[in-house]
Amino acid sequence: MTKIELDTGVAPFPKPAVLLGAMVDGKPNFMNLAWLTRISFKPHLWVLSVPKTRYTAEGIRQQKKFSICIPGKDLVVELDYCGITSGRNEDKSKIFTIFYGELKDVPMIKECPVCVELTVFDEIEMVDRLLIIGEVKHIYTEERYLTDGKLDQDKIGILSYTQPPSAYFLLGEKVADAFSVGKKLRSKAGTS
Ligand SMILES: Cc1cc2nc3c(=O)[nH]c(=O)nc-3n(C[C@H](O)[C@H](O)[C@H](O)COP(=O)(O)O)c2cc1C
Repeated sequence: MTKIELDTGVAPFPKPAVLLGAMVDGKPNFMNLAWLTRISFKPHLWVLSVPKTRYTAEGIRQQKKFSICIPGKDLVVELDYCGITSGRNEDKSKIFTIFYGELKDVPMIKECPVCVELTVFDEIEMVDRLLIIGEVKHIYTEERYLTDGKLDQDKIGILSYTQPPSAYFLLGEKVADAFSVGKKLRSKAGTS
């Protein structure tokens, strides 16, 4: 099969569609965030990428703590609004019911099925970006999003962002169990 070369700006894999929250100059602020991933188990570290000049990043640098709230599909309009509007110009916190957890002044969104409080573990400056590494301190949800005590994707309605076509998608059907289905191809000696 002949391969065709694509533009290097394409990122054809699903990314999270979440809300990054921080207190900026004493005011709660939330922005749409897709560039987020987990990078360590012990401690539990997540890394996110923002431009150095990002308004929300000012708050994270001031407070050394922040939140990640995971919206369900019913919050897609609010999520997108927080990605096309800056807290420098509008008070975005007014569209949500805000609550605070153990870290006290880290704003989180009641309407989101899952909210996470993190403290800044490290920061890396790279080209025009700031990579903020956060240590997960507390995760909050509600009973209605659990099945047998575990988070249930179907009950949450988890969104992902993909570009192309620059759109939000609902997490689809389960295809197979991870760390498991591949065992079919393993020779008896092939463990990792
Ligand atoms: C789908 C989507 C994903 C985004 N992902 C990021 C991201 O990962 N990092 C980032 O810095 N900005 C991202 N943005 C842009 C910010 O959310 C946007 O510039 C926002 O207005 C910043 O808010 P603030 O000025 O209140 O900090 C994204 C926007 C959208 C619509």
